[in-house]
Amino acid sequence: MNLLDSLDLTKGDILKIFDIADRIEKGERFSLKKHPILVLYFEKPSTRTRIAFESAITELGGNAIFIDEKTTQRTRGETLSDIAKILSGYSDFIAARLYKHKDLLEIAKNSSVPVINALDDLEHPTQALADVYTIRNHRKNLSKTSVAFVGDIATNTANSLMTVFSRFGGPFTLIGPKSVNPNATYVNKAREYCKVSVTDDIEDGLEDVDVVYTDTYVSMGEELEAEQRRKLFAPYQVNSAMLKYAKKDAIVMHCLMAHRGEEITGEVIDGPKSVVWEQARNKKLLNKAILIYLSQSEDDHLE
Ligand code: CP
Repeated sequence: MNLLDSLDLTKGDILKIFDIADRIEKGERFSLKKHPILVLYFEKPSTRTRIAFESAITELGGNAIFIDEKTTQRTRGETLSDIAKILSGYSDFIAARLYKHKDLLEIAKNSSVPVINALDDLEHPTQALADVYTIRNHRKNLSKTSVAFVGDIATNTANSLMTVFSRFGGPFTLIGPKSVNPNATYVNKAREYCKVSVTDDIEDGLEDVDVVYTDTYVSMGEELEAEQRRKLFAPYQVNSAMLKYAKKDAIVMHCLMAHRGEEITGEVIDGPKSVVWEQARNKKLLNKAILIYLSQSEDDHLE
């Protein structure tokens, strides 16, 4: 079993992963079947996801091997299908951070071990699991919780967060410029489970919202359009004035890395409504739970 798309996750899968995370938090010890090796194959930089996975597998009794794509024979034309066959021959899991989702599917097709999406152009499912777990820590009943994603509503983070959160039925709002269209596939799929609204009106969009979520305006690979994007999204900066439209006790989230003064002010990200450090810490916990869940699913498959 792989974790490639948030779209593949049922509410049952998510609850099982959350249950493993809860049990780890209560001190239950899980060990994987044998000394497991996790290969991290990354084309893009990472501060959190890489280290969260490396520390997770280490605490589960295994080892991580990190490979920056630039140091592999990929730079001299080796195919991803060959690389996937080789890496899966040496390891028990592969976590890949890639520019293109289709390349992740190519790795998964040629891997003999579970493949995990550690971010690509369409998805960031491990982030979304940590995010929704964090929201659940603050709002027990997710079906009565409303989330607004503010800013660049066409991102991988928005797609995965909307999809995972939708499984619990609470309303989800995408607030961003009129000229930016969210991914229709993800919006339509989420609408099978919850109400999804799309608006450019900040005041309307934030009415009665429990969770205000934002992300960088310039995702990895979009650096050439940086100035243009900063201008486009500037009115959607999450700041104290904007938060007056949300519920009084609303929490603020950001998947990080943050650009203080751009998508969010320092006053907000470092202020009392922010749960971003807890959110980032939960990435290690949820990555552990994902590794355990995938290895249990592999065992079930073999039985
Ligand atoms: N949130 C996140 O994926 O962080 P990194 O890019 O640092 O891994």
